[in-house]
Amino acid sequence: METPDSRREARRGVLRALAAVPLAWSGAALLGGGCAQLPVTATRVLRMAPSQQQFGLPSGSATGIWAFDGTAPGPLLRYRQGEVADIEVQNGLPDATTVHWHGLRVPNAMDGVPYVTQAPIAPGERFRYRFALPDAGTYWYHPHFRSFEQVTRGLYGAFVVEEAQPPEVDEDWTWVLADWLLDREGAMRTDFEDPRDMSHAGRIGNLVTLNGRFAMHRDSDPEPLQLRAGTRVRLRLLNAASARIFALRFAGAAPLLVATDGHPLEPHRLADDSLMLGPGMRVDLIVDVPEGRFTVSDRLDPRRAFVVRELLGAGTAQPRPPFAPLPPNPVPEPDLARARRHEIVLEGGARGRLRSARVDGKEVSVEQLMRQHAMAWAMNGVASNDHVHEPLLTLGRGESCVIALDNRTQWPHPMHLHGHAFRVLTVNGRPPRVSEWRDTVILDPEGSAEIAFLADNPGDWMFHCHILQHQQGGMMAMIRVR
Ligand code: C2O
Ligand code: CU
Repeated sequence: METPDSRREARRGVLRALAAVPLAWSGAALLGGGCAQLPVTATRVLRMAPSQQQFGLPSGSATGIWAFDGTAPGPLLRYRQGEVADIEVQNGLPDATTVHWHGLRVPNAMDGVPYVTQAPIAPGERFRYRFALPDAGTYWYHPHFRSFEQVTRGLYGAFVVEEAQPPEVDEDWTWVLADWLLDREGAMRTDFEDPRDMSHAGRIGNLVTLNGRFAMHRDSDPEPLQLRAGTRVRLRLLNAASARIFALRFAGAAPLLVATDGHPLEPHRLADDSLMLGPGMRVDLIVDVPEGRFTVSDRLDPRRAFVVRELLGAGTAQPRPPFAPLPPNPVPEPDLARARRHEIVLEGGARGRLRSARVDGKEVSVEQLMRQHAMAWAMNGVASNDHVHEPLLTLGRGESCVIALDNRTQWPHPMHLHGHAFRVLTVNGRPPRVSEWRDTVILDPEGSAEIAFLADNPGDWMFHCHILQHQQGGMMAMIRVR
């Protein structure tokens, strides 16, 4: 099916996409080469198609969704660090699509960006993704074609890469948080391009789910998970929502934060036993189940706080030994002394100060931007929701860079970079308590952040807001590494 999005992008993109395809199969395209010695896994088939899902609504009704292998979230993909993932995606959707492996440092040709790294997979067609897994951790996958619609309809899943030597825990759980905007009958609202959502906080659902089940309990979880007190759980959290930011609070036990966006950091207790998880972001926590109740609640809006999930520890807990840090991933450290500094200014949105922006090289007023182009945001003065466009930055391979992000809008933005992990140097001028790697950093309204990375992965990499209505609304840039 041709969409306005696909037509516009196709014009300029298809030649480059075709040029990129053969790369996918050359040895050099697998990160670091040397793929021949890596264990290749059996081909995993993932089928994307419309489906029906019961969220556990009181009415008992099912909702029409789009899904990987029939459910949202799709299957949890599990590999071991150092393996080569081999995944055939079959498109049973009524629209073209691609799959992006969010956070995984894959070769550019495997990144799933339509018209830039591959031609879209047409309905009825398939595409084989094959890439090495240099890093352990918690990642995820989702389409990158009309993400604001396709991800929102339910196309996403977690991707876990186990450490070569996994740490000792009793349980390893992945909790995929998401939300849905349903009408009174429990059907999905299909106003995916609502202009108000685009220029405000994005599309916020009225139903929150955990692993596809209702998770918005008023006071307590009617069916808490029963476990032996003292059980050590590795809890991997992923926010797959299109726009909703979770402000999670943990009560009853003090979880340890051991990884952000897949990458290990010095294990430490959360400030106030709380954390913010913006769209696209992940954390790995270690929880020793207490005697009694352990409650995970969301307090982004304290007047509408809700319980996401509860655990109930039975018996007496024996104290556990301290958790040893996870082994670091082989991410190259940026050389801060020699790094080049770049500024990226975010502007636009409701109550913003944006007056005009460049679209396809032409300066247009903010009114034209909204009415004619259905966009509302700009990065360094350029509004784009085309995947194919001039790079905002071009970096030499092996170059270290610092990107200073300046959010001159009234809205938060989780900014995501493809193909690399970055160090977060500062947030609002202050360094984080513990040094961390991320692929998505959340900017406060009128806030700032500095990130640094070594550009070692050649190709054209998207850098965009992961509030999918903002991405579609113009907040998408490309960084070229060559
Ligand atoms: Cu999770 Cu560009 O995406
Ligand atoms: Cu945004």
